[in-house]
Amino acid sequence: MAASDFKVGLLGHGTVGAAFEALLAERAEEIERFNGLRPVICGILTRSRGDFEKILAEADLLVEVIGGVEPAREYLLQAMRAGRHVVTANKQLLSQHGEELFETARAHDVRIRFEAAVGGAVPVVRVLEESLSATPIDRIHGIVNGTSNYILTEMSKGSSYAEALAEAQRIGYAEADPSDDVTGRDAAAKMAILARLAFGAPVHLDEVRYEGIENLHGDDLQYARELDLGLKLVGTAERRQGGLSVHVFPTFLYPGHPLANVSGPFNAVTVESETITEITLSGPGAGGRQTASAVLGDVVSVMTGGAKPPAPPLAMALIEDVESAFYLHLDVADEPGVLATVTKVLGEQRVSIKSVVQRGMGEHARLVMVTHPVLESSLREAVERLGAFDFVRSAPRTIRVIEEEFL
Ligand code: HSE
Repeated sequence: MAASDFKVGLLGHGTVGAAFEALLAERAEEIERFNGLRPVICGILTRSRGDFEKILAEADLLVEVIGGVEPAREYLLQAMRAGRHVVTANKQLLSQHGEELFETARAHDVRIRFEAAVGGAVPVVRVLEESLSATPIDRIHGIVNGTSNYILTEMSKGSSYAEALAEAQRIGYAEADPSDDVTGRDAAAKMAILARLAFGAPVHLDEVRYEGIENLHGDDLQYARELDLGLKLVGTAERRQGGLSVHVFPTFLYPGHPLANVSGPFNAVTVESETITEITLSGPGAGGRQTASAVLGDVVSVMTGGAKPPAPPLAMALIEDVESAFYLHLDVADEPGVLATVTKVLGEQRVSIKSVVQRGMGEHARLVMVTHPVLESSLREAVERLGAFDFVRSAPRTIRVIEEEFL
């Protein structure tokens, strides 16, 4: 090793780790040309090779791309306590133990960078930490799971759910256990991290309400097309009534929303603030080489001084029952008085209807409504009451609707 070498210990050598090693080899010379230091890998730790203590002793910085909580947490804590900077792509770890890691980084005056933990190659972490650090943010919406966005895109072109998921796994978008992708848990972890950066409040993964795409019906995608809406898995973190609401749900979007046309494995994050109106960042959200580019960017950031770890957290109440517009789908008997009863129940629960379409289908009718924003608890009560009528032939279905359009 030469004096101008910046030594990087690599923990993990899966899809992202292997891509990082290759990208670093490709880019090392150019990085040295502009900052005088050349990043070199001084050791690789996998389940079957490498010695953590040896790698730690030699490294200036550790890159962690093992994933999961342990042993990644223990390695990162040990490294920072030994005065080493760290770069991690580990959303599970940051969304469950972020405060412990940030506190350790502050205490030992080292950098902890984690751009690749959210949005793959999309530089949203750095934008929130640095470019928008003076902007009071009201709301973030994000498509932050490439696998589920890829699956929804393929399904809207006619693939089955199973075919699209198998292809996402084959290409390397999906997690080792893809249930985190399709249940919304991966997106929930990423929204917890974004909420911490945007609002300063510690949000634990367990506090994020989430629902994934695995229970969506093929019908929902067909209705989305008919109504000219996009159906996406959207994470939201927003200020509400002095508190903070963070959740992930399948959501309909009008065509003028910046997230409506984000397709394939792409991710996109929309940041809203009175000061800036709206900024959307989008790009490849999954894939080895794409994620590795964000990891290497973090390494270079540390080599050139990098941003400090997040400041100590602020206290903010988490609010669950928030207002949203909803799409409501009812299969009903096509009989006199049915529509009147449905609208009466909705009115009694203070659910105001924005649009309604009824289509007769023999003895049944399909009733599709979009509501104005309503507290989720009111909508749920209305749906429960409606579901109890004999004229309702299958369980009512609801999906959130984002009403804003910026274009
Ligand atoms: N499995 C993740 C996704 C990879 O599909 O978005 C990036 O975190």
